[in-house]
Amino acid sequence: MAVLKPQDAQYKTKEDICTHLGDEYAQFMGAIVPPIFQNSLFLKPTPKNGIKDSGFVYTRVSNPTVDVAERKIAALEGAQAAACFSSGMAAISAAILHFVRKDSHVIAPHTIYGPTRTFLTKYLADKFGVTVTFVHGSDVEEIRQALRPNTSLIYLESPSSLVMYMQDLKAIADLAKEHGVGTAIDNTYATPLHQNPLEYGIDLVCHTASKYMGGHSDIVAGVVAGSKERIESICQQERELLGACMDPHQAWLLLRGLRTLPVRLKVHGESGLTVAKWLEQQPQVKQVFYPGLDSHPQKDLVDKYLRGTNGLISFVYNGSPEQAREFVYSLKMFQFGVSWGGFESLVVMPTVGMSEEEAGSLGMPANLIRIHVGLENVDSLIADLKQAFEESEKVK
Ligand SMILES: Cc1ncc(COP(=O)(O)O)c(C=O)c1O
Repeated sequence: MAVLKPQDAQYKTKEDICTHLGDEYAQFMGAIVPPIFQNSLFLKPTPKNGIKDSGFVYTRVSNPTVDVAERKIAALEGAQAAACFSSGMAAISAAILHFVRKDSHVIAPHTIYGPTRTFLTKYLADKFGVTVTFVHGSDVEEIRQALRPNTSLIYLESPSSLVMYMQDLKAIADLAKEHGVGTAIDNTYATPLHQNPLEYGIDLVCHTASKYMGGHSDIVAGVVAGSKERIESICQQERELLGACMDPHQAWLLLRGLRTLPVRLKVHGESGLTVAKWLEQQPQVKQVFYPGLDSHPQKDLVDKYLRGTNGLISFVYNGSPEQAREFVYSLKMFQFGVSWGGFESLVVMPTVGMSEEEAGSLGMPANLIRIHVGLENVDSLIADLKQAFEESEKVK
């Protein structure tokens, strides 16, 4: 884990943190980029070996390259400390395990990321008797009603990554504190540039860094940020014992991604808004889900919490599942694949072919298509969507 150092306070803006925090030139022989410490152990000093104590012992516990990534992300989230993990799911499961005990009760919005849902409802439920109440999440009274004496965590994801539903972070954090309940959030959609949940009293912020933070679709990585006390506890228990530490090379690639995060996100956000507005005008589109649109069903929460948006958009195809599939398979620039947040445009169809009930139980409408607007030219992307809609029209 890394706790922010006094010298980190010199970087006052998100851009300066992204580009330079941790560039300790004197310590790293003038290297413009901090090096990869690709070693498992660090020798300890003896009276004879001339080695100074660096504070590092073993890479599962801490490593200088990982340390720089953790300090950068802690500073971006306004946290005292952060801990990097081998994946987003490793970070999220560690944050959940920090709060739950045997027979704990957890409250979560029904739109959370699928494997997080499975971790709660299958793994923790079957092995440790954890119970979960799913809520819509936008009404704090619904969450108050769901509280039980054994509730130990309110887990949030705002906006969610399939239909971009939001929760009222401040109201929920206040409610949780009133009842001595912990709070954690998956903040991946917003990134630390567009929303900092700790500001509103949320206890732990999780990210998959496999998306915009990495930005190049070449790493799987995760991070948890929060108070020094909580991050220390997570590192000594969940990270050190379960062992899902970040590899130094992964940390180095993450640092490379973070340096350009503000400029990449600006383009994703601008192109995302252009595409979302265009989609709203198309006869093949029934409804668009995008926080940057005035039509977002929770516009009040978007205005209250989000400082910007990105390239992730979903929409309901206005036609048959066969036509929706033809649209997806006819795309040429949007590749068919599950992730998002990289340089490239992608498409998936989470509920195409499902009944409304089936999709509804996952918090989504049927016939939902999700696209990620990458860094390609936005007119080329719109032309691609247009030709694929035309192809889909040919299916009867
Ligand atoms: C919103 C969200 N949270 C968490 C994850 C899990 O991250 P990872 O794949 O790095 O384990 C994903 C991955 O797609 C995601 O989209």
